[in-house]
Amino acid sequence: MEPTMPTDEHDSLLVTVVEDDRLLREMLQQVITVWGFRVQTASSGEEGLEVLCLRPAPILLTDLVMPGKGGVWLVREVRKRFPETIALVLTGQHESEPAIECLNAGALRYLLKPPCLHDLRNALNVAAELVNLRRERASYQEDLERTVRRQTQRIRRLSLSGIKSLNIALEARDPYTSGHSQRVRRYSLALGKALGLERRTLRKLALAACLHDIGKVAIAESILNKPGRLTVDEHRTIQRHPVLGEKILRPIIRNREVLGAIRGHHERMDGKGYPDGLSGEQIPLLARIISVADCFDAVTTIRPYRGALSLSETAALLNELAGSQLDPHIVAAWLKLIKGAVDAAPGPREAFREALTAPTGRP
Ligand SMILES: [Fe+2]
Repeated sequence: MEPTMPTDEHDSLLVTVVEDDRLLREMLQQVITVWGFRVQTASSGEEGLEVLCLRPAPILLTDLVMPGKGGVWLVREVRKRFPETIALVLTGQHESEPAIECLNAGALRYLLKPPCLHDLRNALNVAAELVNLRRERASYQEDLERTVRRQTQRIRRLSLSGIKSLNIALEARDPYTSGHSQRVRRYSLALGKALGLERRTLRKLALAACLHDIGKVAIAESILNKPGRLTVDEHRTIQRHPVLGEKILRPIIRNREVLGAIRGHHERMDGKGYPDGLSGEQIPLLARIISVADCFDAVTTIRPYRGALSLSETAALLNELAGSQLDPHIVAAWLKLIKGAVDAAPGPREAFREALTAPTGRP
């Protein structure tokens, strides 16, 4: 077999030669180097292991019988610690049993002493081929995994942007809810910042707030936009939207905080909410924030069955709901924010909304 070893110092394979006979060791070092390999040497099994621990090498060429722990021990240790290392064993004519033991321990081949240089070169080239094949396979595997990861992320991004568009289109069909998710996103972000949430959490909050009502895409429009009072069954149907939202998004968004916030945005502090009847801090923080933002937007928006509340009425209502429906700390933070915004832009509610939401861009 033709030598396959590259001659470049950095690319050539490193061979660990372990041989107690100094002359043979030096001879092996010289010829193996001439064949294009790099060589490190040791004179016993123990020293061989030390050398390998300091500088792992893909090929081991070891004598079998040496003072101290011999070649069988070394092959076993090396296979245990460096399973990728390929071991070749040098044996005397009468050492067939330990040689077979070495093969059983994972050595690739054994060569009789004194070694025939042609056979030795062949064995080293086969070992080198194996090492290169393993490296190629590993790099191919890495490339493949990287590509799959990239494509999966791309598919997720595309699916998510499709769902966001669907949500916007759904809201746009109803003048009363048009822009609701974007306003809830902005209010939630303003709140999250006021509460000192870190950037990564703000990003999750923004995503959850934007998609909190996405489950409504699975509910009939005749129920969603019904002008009059809802029947008990219709009410139950609408109450399924947090669970439906989580279900729709689970294949695309794997983050539990985002999914938990969507599922929990209609839970109440007193445990009377839905879908799980969680109470107090059992309700995820992001869900509690979205609840306040959602509630604020709902009462300050004109609906078919009522007009919008004024700001002072809204503040009074939020205070009333704090503790039973809404988290009182978050309501307090929101009322503080409202106060600042009202002072900055006294006047009609729309101007107030602009003042409140304008400075909060992407988290
Ligand atoms: Fe909702």
